[in-house]
Amino acid sequence: MSSYPFVGATIFLTLVLSSCKASFAALKILNESLVELSPEECGRVCSYEDWFNRAHCDDRGLLHVPTSGGCEEVTLLELQGNKIKSIAEEHLSGYKHVRTLDVSNNEITHLNPETFLANDQLKNIIVSHNRLRILHNGTFKGIESNLLRIYLDHNKFYLIETKAFHGLSKVTSLYLNNNKLQQLVSNIFSDMADLLHLSLDHNELIELDKGNFRNLTNLLTLKLEANNLTKLPEEVFVDLYSLQEVDLSSNKLKAIMPPHNIGIHYVRMINLQDNKINRSVDIIPFLYNVTHELCFGGNPLSCDCDFKIIQEWVKEIKDGEPCSESAISVVRCKLINQSFVDITDDLKLNCNSPISSNKTSQETDLPDKKDSPSSTPAHTFTSRSQHLTYPSGHDDNSNWRKTDHFKPENFKSGYSVYWVSLYNAVILTCYILFRCVKSYKRRKSGTSR
Ligand SMILES: *[C@@H]1O[C@H](CO)[C@@H](O)[C@H](O)[C@H]1NC(C)=O
Ligand SMILES: *[C@@H]1O[C@H](CO)[C@@H](O)[C@H](O)[C@H]1NC(C)=O
Ligand SMILES: *[C@@H]1O[C@H](CO)[C@@H](O)[C@H](O)[C@H]1NC(C)=O
Ligand SMILES: *[C@@H]1O[C@H](CO)[C@@H](O)[C@H](O)[C@H]1NC(C)=O
Ligand SMILES: *[C@@H]1O[C@H](CO)[C@@H](O)[C@H](O)[C@H]1NC(C)=O
Ligand SMILES: *[C@@H]1O[C@H](CO)[C@@H](O)[C@H](O)[C@H]1NC(C)=O
Ligand SMILES: *[C@@H]1O[C@H](CO)[C@@H](O)[C@H](O)[C@H]1NC(C)=O
Ligand SMILES: *[C@@H]1O[C@H](CO)[C@@H](O)[C@H](O)[C@H]1NC(C)=O
Repeated sequence: MSSYPFVGATIFLTLVLSSCKASFAALKILNESLVELSPEECGRVCSYEDWFNRAHCDDRGLLHVPTSGGCEEVTLLELQGNKIKSIAEEHLSGYKHVRTLDVSNNEITHLNPETFLANDQLKNIIVSHNRLRILHNGTFKGIESNLLRIYLDHNKFYLIETKAFHGLSKVTSLYLNNNKLQQLVSNIFSDMADLLHLSLDHNELIELDKGNFRNLTNLLTLKLEANNLTKLPEEVFVDLYSLQEVDLSSNKLKAIMPPHNIGIHYVRMINLQDNKINRSVDIIPFLYNVTHELCFGGNPLSCDCDFKIIQEWVKEIKDGEPCSESAISVVRCKLINQSFVDITDDLKLNCNSPISSNKTSQETDLPDKKDSPSSTPAHTFTSRSQHLTYPSGHDDNSNWRKTDHFKPENFKSGYSVYWVSLYNAVILTCYILFRCVKSYKRRKSGTSR
């Protein structure tokens, strides 16, 4: 009876000792395999996660893309936050299986045609926050059939060549925001029939071409805010049958045609805030064809009977809610003596209101009325039942990007980091034990022979 604990302890100690020995041998093998790699190789400069086939090469002052040695199987290659000045085909050709390439926050100035020719598994390309100026024809040659998301935002693009997006029929998201684009050639996106999200905000677009959005029949969101647009051409949105949200805020629009003239049928959200529209009659048609959220504060509307129609419409709805948490602009009109009348104030004008008592189908959809006029100024008019949460913050749409779309950070800051790391630890332990036992066995059979 009393010998049991002793036997147990001995077995335990033997196990611990042998596993230590074996794991030391495994470490040595690992060390040796590292020594064979040159200092420029991925297996050397990056930390590699077998489990995800993920190479962390980020934020380590790299001047070049490391060669693929030691990371041949990588699917997620993270090179962001380095000092890389160029990427070219010869740097990337060894990474045959890469699906997501993140080279954001580097110093890349040129992206030559056919850079990704060898990486035909690529689905996501993130080149944000670099110094690119021209997007050439054929940049994405060879990867047309798999590419899903392209991030080119926060660069210095002023020119996109006519065929730069040629054949990219699977791409769903394209980010070109925060660049220096002043114009886009006609049909530039017309091969991208699967595109769902297009960001062109924070550029210097002066005008749009009627053919700019041709063929984008699946597009859901179009971001055009913070450009220099003064007018929209007729039928510019006519192919956008699926469009749900269009942001035209912070432009220089002086007038806007009725929705059907610019090709909008029914959209959930349209933002016309902070433009130069001075005629309320331009806004009125949108009251009926925007189903959830219409923002038009910050326009120099003049105080006339059309403004009174808007006021009455607002009074009927009585559900003013801010468009977004930031950059809220008040809806008000300007009197001849330059003073302002708020949307909820009494505008002393004698008008024969044409819509005061008859409701449209639009209005009957809207929620119950409250009786007291809203105390805060109405900036927009939102159906409470289906409130649309739209990205806030004009300068940085990264929140929106991170929550709604793929971004590698999601792996890091995921909802259950704890469980993932626990899981990793367990798997790692099992793996080491497995290797230990294997190499122990091997050594044993070696010595017995
Ligand atoms: C790894 O290799 C270096 C030399 O290349 C050596 O100094 C070091 O002791 C080795 N480490 C182990 C754990 O073998
Ligand atoms: C890009 O392709 C278009 C169409 O093939 C061509 O007209 C244009 O000249 C090309 N641009 C350059 C810079 O080669
Ligand atoms: C529009 O997309 C379809 C594929 O969905 C394509 O066949 C057609 O050529 C495209 N039209 C234009 C004008 O590019
Ligand atoms: C666009 O507008 C900004 C600010 O109003 C101005 O600084 C810039 O020069 C304009 N760009 C063009 C091309 O008109
Ligand atoms: C509206 O702005 C235009 C210039 O864009 C100007 O000619 C017109 O007089 C303005 N209308 C009113 C009522 O202020
Ligand atoms: C609103 O949309 C309907 C359906 O597309 C259209 O018939 C109507 O003319 C639109 N109204 C305005 C004011 O554009
Ligand atoms: C402008 O006119 C309105 C009434 O027409 C008046 O109530 C207001 O005090 C005037 N504002 C100024 C600054 O004269
Ligand atoms: C409201 O609509 C009814 C019929 O739908 C019409 O007879 C009536 O004149 C309308 N009233 C106003 C103020 O337009």
